[in-house]
Amino acid sequence: PMIYYPLSVLMKAGIKDILIICTKKDLNNFKDLLKDGYHLGLNFSYKIQNFPNGIAESFIIADDFIGNDNVCLILGDNIFSGNNFQEYLMLAKNNLVKGNSSIFGVTVENPCDFGVIEEHNGKIIIIEKPKQTQSNLIVSGLYFYTNDVINISKNLKPSKRNELEVTDINNYYISNDKLKLIRLDKDISWIDTGTHESLVEASTFFRKIELKTSKKISCIEEIALNLGYIDAIQFEKLANNMSNSSYGKYLKKLIKIES
Ligand code: G1P
Repeated sequence: PMIYYPLSVLMKAGIKDILIICTKKDLNNFKDLLKDGYHLGLNFSYKIQNFPNGIAESFIIADDFIGNDNVCLILGDNIFSGNNFQEYLMLAKNNLVKGNSSIFGVTVENPCDFGVIEEHNGKIIIIEKPKQTQSNLIVSGLYFYTNDVINISKNLKPSKRNELEVTDINNYYISNDKLKLIRLDKDISWIDTGTHESLVEASTFFRKIELKTSKKISCIEEIALNLGYIDAIQFEKLANNMSNSSYGKYLKKLIKIES
């Protein structure tokens, strides 16, 4: 399932308390798939976004969930992969300790489809889906924010497309010198699967890697085992529950390798 990809990023960042925000229509599907997360050593909660009011609204919806903590947001259609990706996540966590938020910059060929990072007079500024730009560095859909993001979001005005923009949050932090840009190197693959075309691109790309390495990318049960969130007995139980599918067979194969 698509959501396993962003979920695996949160797990690799050491985040166990996860709020899934989705439409009312999708809620039961996500609940059926992921339940309360206990089987993976995680803790899932769910909230509905009633209207597509923008990414920044998630921090208002998640107000009680976040409480006094800092927070990480990942968009459900974003895939990140690469062996040392965890090191980038640690950078962002360290920035939070110092009171700074972080975004992750990626170089792409179609920058105008995203929030573009431009440099003006030695300072960066982010422009949401500009008509044209000289820059091909864009903001990916993974954000680590300090707790004040809740209040910042509550004070945002809707944009021209009538959304609360995550880009406005980022520009607010930039103007207060509180945003760190972490640039992802070429060894990290990033795909936003928000269009049919990019979804097909992602499928082909990851299929090739999986065939070549015989390893699955973003297998949340495997990650939970490796991080010590679940033990081998629980892992085997999960594998047995889906042993008829190719995914379940992959898990069973891992048990054989481990023993
Ligand atoms: C959103 C953000 C954009 C960001 C992108 C990354 O765009 O608004 O700034 O670059 O996610 O995936 P969307 O995909 O919602 O159009």
